[in-house]
Amino acid sequence: MIDEPDAPAPLDLSAVREQYQSEGIRRTDLFPDPLDHFRAWYAEWAATEPFDPAAVALATATPDGRPSVRFVLVRRVDHGFCFFTDTTSRKGAELAANPQAALCFGWIALSRQVRAVGPVEPLTDAEVDDYWEHRPRGSRLSAVASAQSQPVADREALEHRREEVAAAAGPDGPIERPAGWGGYRLVPEEVEVWQGRADRLHDRFLYTRAGDAWALQRLMP
Ligand SMILES: Cc1cc2nc3c(=O)[nH]c(=O)nc-3n(C[C@H](O)[C@H](O)[C@H](O)COP(=O)(O)O)c2cc1C
Repeated sequence: MIDEPDAPAPLDLSAVREQYQSEGIRRTDLFPDPLDHFRAWYAEWAATEPFDPAAVALATATPDGRPSVRFVLVRRVDHGFCFFTDTTSRKGAELAANPQAALCFGWIALSRQVRAVGPVEPLTDAEVDDYWEHRPRGSRLSAVASAQSQPVADREALEHRREEVAAAAGPDGPIERPAGWGGYRLVPEEVEVWQGRADRLHDRFLYTRAGDAWALQRLMP
């Protein structure tokens, strides 16, 4: 055994032990289309008034398989999950090289999780412009000032960049959307809904796209 007198004690989280107690879900509770199911579950989640209910963990990967994950806000659900970001960021570079992603909503207060996997397509300029115009002025100024995921010397340098952008725009002047600022839609090919139950004997259902329809399978927890 290696003698490491200065090593801190490991953080032991094994005593944090919650029971998931929901009534569970049956096949007959599920909509044929997982996006309809998502809409119904999202309404229940939003009704619990969590802080920023639209947050989702989004995983991308380099073509050689190195993954990265971060939260984004889903801003629209149509035939996929749409989010907005700086396309020159790390996630943007990964999506350009490997346009596949996975996302995971962790709605733990409802003992629920929703996962989706699929190809990611860029949103159109019209879709991005529409959203850009609806963003608060402060958010737009920060987006122009920030080359997302690039290093910056310190906080001061970042704030200086933003002040310059704000000064150039003036108090009410237009704030042009940077060319690299955009959005994506993850079009799911797989969606899994998970409902936590007692003794870790949870319910899981996997939707898999089969042409225009969806196949549905129960998975073991
Ligand atoms: C709750 C939450 C929501 C976020 N929403 C977004 C978002 O919608 N778009 C975005 O670009 N970054 C968002 N971020 C910041 C990202 O997690 C991340 O730091 C940033 O996009 C850079 O990621 P990247 O370097 O992997 O590209 C959010 C962070 C949190 C914690």
